[in-house]
Amino acid sequence: ATNRTFTMIKPDAVENGHTGAILEKINAAGFRIVAMKKTHMTKRDAETFYAIHNERPFFGELVEFMTRGPIVAAILEKENAVEDFRTLIGATNPAEAAEGTIRKLFATSIGENAVHGSDSDENAAIEGSFHFSGREMF
Ligand code: CMP
Repeated sequence: ATNRTFTMIKPDAVENGHTGAILEKINAAGFRIVAMKKTHMTKRDAETFYAIHNERPFFGELVEFMTRGPIVAAILEKENAVEDFRTLIGATNPAEAAEGTIRKLFATSIGENAVHGSDSDENAAIEGSFHFSGREMF
C-alpha cells in the first residue's frame, strides 16, 4: 500500500553541500514529497525527537550533532515507503552500508550519518507531525 515515511537530511550532509544530491536520489527512487522544509532544531527539539534514545551512551553527542546546524526535514510518500526508504539510505553505520546507498555515498560516521529514516509507519506519523502541521502537508 502507499504510505509515508519521514526523513531528515542531517547537519553533516547539509554542511557538506549534499542536500541537492540527496534530494535527487530520493526523487529518482520514486518518492513523492508531501512536505519539506529547512529548519534548525533546538536542544529541546532534539531531546524530544530522540527521547527514545535518552538512556544511550551517545545521546548527548546525538543532541549536540543534530543541533549544530540546519537540517532539511521531509515527509515522503510511496508504495512501501518506510522499508524502501531504509533500503535507499543503507545501514546506520556507513562502513556497513551497501554500495550506492545514501549513507555509503554521503555519511561520515555512525553518528554523522547524513540522513534519518523512520523505522515504522507509527514512528513515521509521530516524527512527521513533530516537524509539520497538517497545513504543511500536500
Ligand atoms: P538514526 O537511526 O537516524 O537515529 C538515531 C541516531 O543515533 C542514528 O541515526 C545515529 O545518528 C545515532 N547513533 C546510533 N548509534 C550511534 C553510536 N554508536 N554512536 C553515535 N551515534 C549513534
